[in-house]
Amino acid sequence: MPFMIQSRTSPKPISPADRMRALPQQFFAQLVNKAETLRQEGYDVINLGQGNPDQATPENIVSALQSAATDSRYHKYIPFSGLQSMKTAVAAWYQSRYGVTIDPARHVAILIGSKIGLQELSLALLNPGDRAMVPDPGYPDYWSGIRLAGADMVSLPLEADLNFLPDLSHWDPKAKLAFFNYPNNPTGRLASGEFFDEVINLAIRDGITLAHDLAYGDITFDGKQAVSLLSRPGGIEAGIEFTTVSKSYNMAGWRLGFAVGNPEIIRYLEILQDHLHCSQFGAVQQAGIEALTGPQDSVKALVNRYQSRRDAFINEAKKFGWQIPPSEGSIFMWCPVPTKETAVEFAERVLAQEKVVLAPGSGFGRVGEGYVRISLTASTSQLIDAAQRIGRLL
Ligand SMILES: Cc1ncc(COP(=O)(O)O)c(C=O)c1O
Repeated sequence: MPFMIQSRTSPKPISPADRMRALPQQFFAQLVNKAETLRQEGYDVINLGQGNPDQATPENIVSALQSAATDSRYHKYIPFSGLQSMKTAVAAWYQSRYGVTIDPARHVAILIGSKIGLQELSLALLNPGDRAMVPDPGYPDYWSGIRLAGADMVSLPLEADLNFLPDLSHWDPKAKLAFFNYPNNPTGRLASGEFFDEVINLAIRDGITLAHDLAYGDITFDGKQAVSLLSRPGGIEAGIEFTTVSKSYNMAGWRLGFAVGNPEIIRYLEILQDHLHCSQFGAVQQAGIEALTGPQDSVKALVNRYQSRRDAFINEAKKFGWQIPPSEGSIFMWCPVPTKETAVEFAERVLAQEKVVLAPGSGFGRVGEGYVRISLTASTSQLIDAAQRIGRLL
């Protein structure tokens, strides 16, 4: 008789750690599931709800990965903090993009995508009960790291009458960390150098660390430019900036990002990383070096593409009276709900009746109510089609 493992009749339920319960609800997962169900039912769904770049990674970057993949140096564990040559490329990129001089050895940490870096920052700096300021509306992944650290959030509202800059009358001088993000997801706005200076002064006055998310730094429209925290006086001391190859080079699946700034914070991030994981695959970092230091024409072409998609949607929407302020940057449009419905009600009706996925603004925070976020990661014809479908409803 073979030995049989007896199964228990009533297994003890698995009880997750308290930190799992503290995680914020994944607001958009439900929406994505609904869209997927409709697609499987055979509907022609246009997904404008997610910011997943739709274009291919430039060929020179793919070729760099292909040749680096055969390099046996990268088949082993590489230094836990990543390739020094990658850090040097990040420094060269900061110099050419923003005129900022940094020391690659002290000012740069390599991240397996900026998403995980944003969480690592909260884990490295926040104790339970500490407070971190977040933009509202804002990128939800800031919340996850803060909650995993057992810390609390303070919202800085981004309202239209302040040009979607954080309302600093809500600044919390006792907080430990402040996240901000320009070009902004979800509002598509930029911030001026003077705004950065104001925040840096407050942060230095109150001993608060700034975390600036520059994920969309390259994606700015109508000749406007993004500002780097590190390019402003005191910026490098006041905090760190997150950058990524995901959006500029259509490399969202490759998982490569960078934290750059205050060397003490960079060191804490690297100590934490040493415990959590090994650095990104060396061949991906070699491709990242090619992305940052190789030809940059693809970035310009990509920005032009997003800008003309933006204009196509806005023009189509205007035909039926939906006025959408043009984004200054990022891959999103922040659109006032054109009916008396809440953002969720409007998005659900558009999905149910016209099979277009929009992201309700309230998913990005309480202040996001009254808006839907529309992503520019669909083709011009899909965007025009989506606008026409929405027009039919109004
Ligand atoms: C504002 C913002 N920051 C960070 C990220 C994360 O980028 P990645 O993890 O791909 O570097 C995203 C992704 O959508 C984002 O919108």
